[in-house]
Amino acid sequence: MSFLIGLDVGGSTTKAVLVRDGEIMHLVRVSGSEPLVSAAGAVGKLVEESRIELKKVRIIACTGGGAKCLTPSFLGVRSVRVDELEAVGYGGLLLSGYDEAIVSSVGTGTAIVHALKGKKGAISRHLGGTGVGGGTLVGLGRLLLNRSTLGGILKLASGGDPSAVNLTVRDIVGGPVGRIPETATASNFGRIVDGVRPEDVAAGLVRMIGEVVATVSYFAAKMMNLEKKVVFVGSLPEALGDEILRALQMLGGKGIVPKNSAYAAAIGAANMSSQATS
Ligand SMILES: Nc1ncnc2c1ncn2[C@@H]1O[C@H](COP(=O)(O)OP(=O)(O)OP(=O)(O)O)[C@@H](O)[C@H]1O
Ligand SMILES: [Mg+2]
Repeated sequence: MSFLIGLDVGGSTTKAVLVRDGEIMHLVRVSGSEPLVSAAGAVGKLVEESRIELKKVRIIACTGGGAKCLTPSFLGVRSVRVDELEAVGYGGLLLSGYDEAIVSSVGTGTAIVHALKGKKGAISRHLGGTGVGGGTLVGLGRLLLNRSTLGGILKLASGGDPSAVNLTVRDIVGGPVGRIPETATASNFGRIVDGVRPEDVAAGLVRMIGEVVATVSYFAAKMMNLEKKVVFVGSLPEALGDEILRALQMLGGKGIVPKNSAYAAAIGAANMSSQATS
């Protein structure tokens, strides 16, 4: 029996996945931006919860921005580094079941990858991205709403209405423009009035971030003729995922947020290392 761990040390959270013979046995996520502490914490939580002895783990496949500070023998287990964009691309294909797709990783920021299934893993190409992502929601939420947690921001947003703070195409031109419906956003936060409700600001934030991510992903996907095959991964909250998919559909694209999307890079890394070392 051979166990592998895929470890994705991200800017906000660290994800770890335990894999045995290609099968996912357990998944954990821990918050924190200090890479070594987060990595050790995630591996510790994973082995404790799954009741697997660490010595039974053959390899820890590390990816994510924080992976570079891990040693080749991490916690006494051989560790290999996997390129983050390749791990994201392969993980997106594995989770979606597609052979080719645009994988948009909505993490602290957003990175967009073209992924094509290869003999070992995926052939991934970085197409671009945007600094607007989950970190923007947390940061602007703190700044504008005096809420210190993502949960608090999302709770507020669930009771708000983005159209109370946005101008729509109808507001500006009185009807639809080309294939853009009249309900589309013409100006995010273009309607702020005195006494604006924090709930509406929170909902407007989720909408704006969703629309930016969807628009950038759509243009990247369109460039590759894959606008109907966009896979969104990352720890994106459900409300943000819904906004992204809605905005993408309005543009004429089609996307999915697969199950376990937060673990895409960790799953990709684990599976790449299992193929490379088997
Ligand atoms: N439990 C959580 N703790 C912290 N952030 C969370 C949590 N759940 C969802 N999030 C959201 O996920 C975002 C981070 O997403 P993710 O974990 O995919 O990114 P990351 O891998 O840490 O960052 P990056 O890939 O950009 O380096 C946060 O900014 C926040 O909006
Ligand atoms: Mg990440």
